Amino acid sequence: MRSLVLILAGAFSVIAIAAIAGVIFLKWGASGFSARADPSTMEVFAAQTARSLALPPGAKAARNPVGNSKQILEDAMAHWADHCAVCHGNDGSGQVDMGRQMYPHAPDMRQAATQKLTDGELFYIIENGIRLSGMPAWGGTAVGEKDSWKLVSFIRHLPELSTSEMERMEKLNPKGPEDREQEQQEEQFLNGPAHKETQP
Ligand code: HEC
Repeated sequence: MRSLVLILAGAFSVIAIAAIAGVIFLKWGASGFSARADPSTMEVFAAQTARSLALPPGAKAARNPVGNSKQILEDAMAHWADHCAVCHGNDGSGQVDMGRQMYPHAPDMRQAATQKLTDGELFYIIENGIRLSGMPAWGGTAVGEKDSWKLVSFIRHLPELSTSEMERMEKLNPKGPEDREQEQQEEQFLNGPAHKETQP
């Protein structure tokens, strides 16, 4: 009985010290809560461990049923340019305003940290998103499971994306008013000065 009380008292002390240390860190150690900062090694480690532990059994080993034929990659490329590039960039580098300014930032998906995830893990992430991050869940939307698998194939293709593929994707990216205006100006420049209607 006495030892149980001692164990409980010890556990409470550890929790209390951790909570006090957390408050001290947030109040004086952390520099505000700006999303512009880089996550600390500790945060990255905690988030990645939690993610890997929470993955449902079987999800990791799931096989990609769609393969990576030219047509599959073409479909996924158009899909990526339209739905994913706004945060991940056409090349998957994450070097676009939205991706750079999120916390955690959108990762460079051409690098080992992403490429070493299994097809099943990538699929699970695309379908379910990542909690407490900017990564949305795409499953259950108009995007079907087959399309998510195609995107997995495209993520594998990112490290060898060609310049001509990048150019094709730029034409498929969603356009805002500024982009349209710039496009119009470029077109006008290339076609020469507009013809003025001359009155007879
Ligand atoms: C609104 C922004 C946003 C959009 C749109 C978005 N993502 Fe993400 N995504 C993120 C962020 C931020 C992360 C990093 C989350 C983290 O590290 O916990 C991420 C992470 C991922 C990861 C995990 C990569 C890794 O190495 O851990 C995959 C896979 C992914 N996204 C695929 C996609 C696909 C495919 C699409 C399009 C259908 C998409 N994302 C659209 C913001 C976005």
